[in-house]
Amino acid sequence: MSVHLTTHFNIPSVRINKKLLQRRTTWLMRQNSVADHEVSILLVNDEEISWFNSHYRDKQEPTNVLSFPFADDKDLALSTLRVNELGDIIISVETALREANKLKVSFNDRLTWLITHGLLHLLGHDHERSEEDAHAMWDLENKLINQLQSSRSTQMTQLAINVDHVATVRNARGIREPDPVAAAAICELAGAAGIVVHLREDRRHINDRDVRLLRETIKTRMNLEMGANKEIIEIALGLKPDMVTLVPEKRKELTTEGGLNVTGQKKKLEKTINSMDKAGIPVSLFIDPESKQVKAAHAIGATFVEIHTGRYCDATSEEERENEYRLISAAAEEAYQMGLRVNAGHGLDYQNTARIAALDTIEELSIGHAIIARSIFVGLDQAVREMRAIVRDASTIF
Ligand code: PXP
Repeated sequence: MSVHLTTHFNIPSVRINKKLLQRRTTWLMRQNSVADHEVSILLVNDEEISWFNSHYRDKQEPTNVLSFPFADDKDLALSTLRVNELGDIIISVETALREANKLKVSFNDRLTWLITHGLLHLLGHDHERSEEDAHAMWDLENKLINQLQSSRSTQMTQLAINVDHVATVRNARGIREPDPVAAAAICELAGAAGIVVHLREDRRHINDRDVRLLRETIKTRMNLEMGANKEIIEIALGLKPDMVTLVPEKRKELTTEGGLNVTGQKKKLEKTINSMDKAGIPVSLFIDPESKQVKAAHAIGATFVEIHTGRYCDATSEEERENEYRLISAAAEEAYQMGLRVNAGHGLDYQNTARIAALDTIEELSIGHAIIARSIFVGLDQAVREMRAIVRDASTIF
């Protein structure tokens, strides 16, 4: 089975999530028992779809979607051939964008609806044939979209919880409580998909004992945040966490301030990635939402990038927040298109997380301070469950 998706337009403001659309089309084909077939999807502008519309259908205006089956019943010669081609679906991205805005749905969701519609035409459905056929086609279309919605819930954004601040409170007294190891277990019982800890050079919160015990007790995934320095690299190689996230680390900062300057230290980071690779540890690079950092992370062989959401979270005006959101969305999209896996985090709280969780390209959010702060008032179990509900609801809306 294959889905050939080609873009043929030059509209700088339009970014297509090709992988997402291919994944959804593949799913639609499987549901319609044509998983062994091929389909071509061509995304064009209004001018080009107008040409197809006038040339093949004698209609002079642009439209949203056109379908051209490879063979219909009249093409006897073709229909007897044992080919697996279903045909072509042509979609105008300009019309799709206008429709998405009007219907207040996301661009990708509108494109998905148009692909579903086009595919059903290729499979012989036709709403223009009769009223009965029209109802049958709409019903099937709605059913497929609803099913797609529930199937997406299995791929919802994951929530990984950073328990550093539990250790910060413990260390304030220099005693054993509260224990970040116990906190990690509670987070997992409440539904966290992973635990994140930052082993800093100065051990201001998480210490060597914590990472050792966490490695033994975490049942989900352990993500070790760290600076790319010799001592910590050696600890990580011995510990073998499920992944590491490389972050810039300054002794005087209160928390990780900005993303890594990957472009400026490619050699050093590549060397660290290579040694982690040899130990079977995937590496994520914590970067600001900038195209040049995404490209550099990809070039030096990172498996993941974690997009820094700090500026979005700290924005003081709606305009600034929108702008930062767009940068995160674009950087995540670019990384995803390149085949990088995408996480995000820093500063996310109970108000600003939903929009980030709703981005299709983001696999996992790393959240610490907001959850640990809330846990003082409502308990850790409830604080985790509340955040998990926000992430789940945002990432399963179709
Ligand atoms: N991701 C990274 C790389 C971080 O350094 C931190 C802070 O430790 C976080 C996510 C979590 O940020 P916050 O504690 O603000 O949720």
